[in-house]
Amino acid sequence: MEGVYEARTPRSGKLFSRARRVFAGGVNHNARFYEPYPIFVKRARGQHIWDEDGHRYTDYWMGHMALILGHSPEVVTAALRDQLTDGTHFGTGSRLSVELGEHVKAAVPCAELLRFCNTGAEATMYLVRLARGYSRRRVVIKMAGGWHGFNTELNKGVHEPFDAPESEGILPEEQEHVVTVRFNDLEDARRAVKASKGDVAAILLEPVLGAGGCIPAEREYLKGLRELADETGTLLAFDEVITGFRVAYGGAQEHYGVVPDLAALGKVVGGGLPVGLVCGRKEILSLADPSRKGRFVSIGGGTFSENPLTMAAGLATLRYLRRHSRDVYPRLAQLGGQLRSGVDRALSEQRVNAKTTGLGSLFLTHFMSGPPVEGRGKEDSNLSREFGLSMMTRGIFLLPGHAGGISACHTDSDIEAFVDAAGQFRPKTGK
Ligand SMILES: Cc1ncc(COP(=O)(O)O)c(C=O)c1O
Repeated sequence: MEGVYEARTPRSGKLFSRARRVFAGGVNHNARFYEPYPIFVKRARGQHIWDEDGHRYTDYWMGHMALILGHSPEVVTAALRDQLTDGTHFGTGSRLSVELGEHVKAAVPCAELLRFCNTGAEATMYLVRLARGYSRRRVVIKMAGGWHGFNTELNKGVHEPFDAPESEGILPEEQEHVVTVRFNDLEDARRAVKASKGDVAAILLEPVLGAGGCIPAEREYLKGLRELADETGTLLAFDEVITGFRVAYGGAQEHYGVVPDLAALGKVVGGGLPVGLVCGRKEILSLADPSRKGRFVSIGGGTFSENPLTMAAGLATLRYLRRHSRDVYPRLAQLGGQLRSGVDRALSEQRVNAKTTGLGSLFLTHFMSGPPVEGRGKEDSNLSREFGLSMMTRGIFLLPGHAGGISACHTDSDIEAFVDAAGQFRPKTGK
């Protein structure tokens, strides 16, 4: 597969050689590296991207799943064009940020107050600080496989075997009070809360485990966590950086009908520009009010928080989503369902041992070596990479091994083409 891929993408290959001389590993995000080298994108529009060699791909990576309306939708580009003439960076509040904040507050059930920042990693870092500051407890319970960005404390238990350090340079004492439990396993959470003897500040999870396998939580599990949190005076916190405004307009908390005390969002809220936000109960978020006397939790933003370009793009996106939510979300769920079942059918006809998980517009095909197993137990990352490269040579872009996201631009025939391309996958390894 590498041979075909390399023959199609010589310009990306050359750019990667140059990139390796400027960037560590040739990339600016670890997830963007895959062998033999990643494609370099020149242009993007709607559901398509074009690489430096001029190939067009139907994109399912969608800018780390941030682009729910596709690349450069007219509503967003028009708002950005207007904003460019009015200023790119104020370093102050603006009507735009107030309006976008009001949209978030109206949509997201737990968002009584919020604070903008620039990335999801920043948002989850502030979330942890707020949870600890409010509760005056230390322990944060997170999920094995849970990914919350590159912040120091939460970079733990992300990759199997989950108990090994994720990185040099992070001190064990910096993560001493972060405890990892199994996702969708209420008893494990109960055990961890009990073992922490009243010191759990928050139980933090992605309602759809994202980088950890695109696995939706069971509704009863989330309800059980809500009860556990209430019984033990613990905060329940959702990382909705992926699911916010994607699985429903009000995010996974709306979809599941379980409201956390705190949540972190990012991606879709910025309309394709850099964003993060932390939100939650007023009682907790108001601790970050710099004018308050007494208890205070110091959180950002930063230099570029509520920057007017992001605010304009986010506002245009949320306005569109709110107006069209009755069409957009059922449609995304329908396309997602078609893709998941179609891919599994096509692969099983080829006797490839695979299972596609996800929720709504989110999906990931898991490739297993050996007999079928539940969950992620015996995954074959080589097969997963081969599948990604195979799809790319057929004009479909997925970041190998990572979840994909369907946008409002994708059509029925795009999904049919995806299923068709999946059915042409002939693995060389692992079978
Ligand atoms: C669930 C989740 N939380 C947090 C983050 C971190 O967000 P960012 O990459 O904007 O720092 C990500 C990024 O993919 C994510 O998927």
